Amino acid sequence: MKRIFVAATLAASLVATAAVAATLPSLARFSYVGSLTVTDKSSPIAGVHHFYANAAAKKALSKGGPFPVGAEFRGRLYEAEQNEFGVVAGKIKLTTVMKKDPAAADTGGWAFSVVTPDGKSPKLDVKTACFQCHQKAQATDFVFSKALP
Ligand code: HEC
Repeated sequence: MKRIFVAATLAASLVATAAVAATLPSLARFSYVGSLTVTDKSSPIAGVHHFYANAAAKKALSKGGPFPVGAEFRGRLYEAEQNEFGVVAGKIKLTTVMKKDPAAADTGGWAFSVVTPDGKSPKLDVKTACFQCHQKAQATDFVFSKALP
């Protein structure tokens, strides 16, 4: 009886994991470019971030910008969880997106957006929620990440 219960629980958690994976923007054509961990819970960017670039963004990143139309970065944002060894990524909170698009003139030519784990894109005032801070990276076309050595 106990075995059946364990198997059923495992099956349910596999289904749940697969359901989340299906609604997350894919990273299949993206390369890892870096991470940021913010443990201050009052920060607007609290959590563990892993950042990824598509081929166009990665190429331009190696030159420190500027970035061509079509360049795209994605960030996976997880809850920051403290364990006995350090801070690790917990539950996924959001995928953040920056896509080079000349139509996004108000935000440095980058279209900023977020995708929740259930695949929804809530409307955001990205000028204040994202661009105000990314403006600090104006010298590198509003991109903070550096090419990995
Ligand atoms: C308080 C400052 C701050 C805010 C607000 C902020 N970011 Fe960032 N963002 C950063 C920093 C810092 C990094 C890069 C960390 C590193 O790897 O050096 C970053 C990195 C990124 C990256 C990877 C490309 C890059 O610039 O390195 C994406 C994509 C991104 N942010 C999207 C967003 C989106 C979308 C929002 C709004 C919902 C947002 N960010 C709001 C500070 C911020």
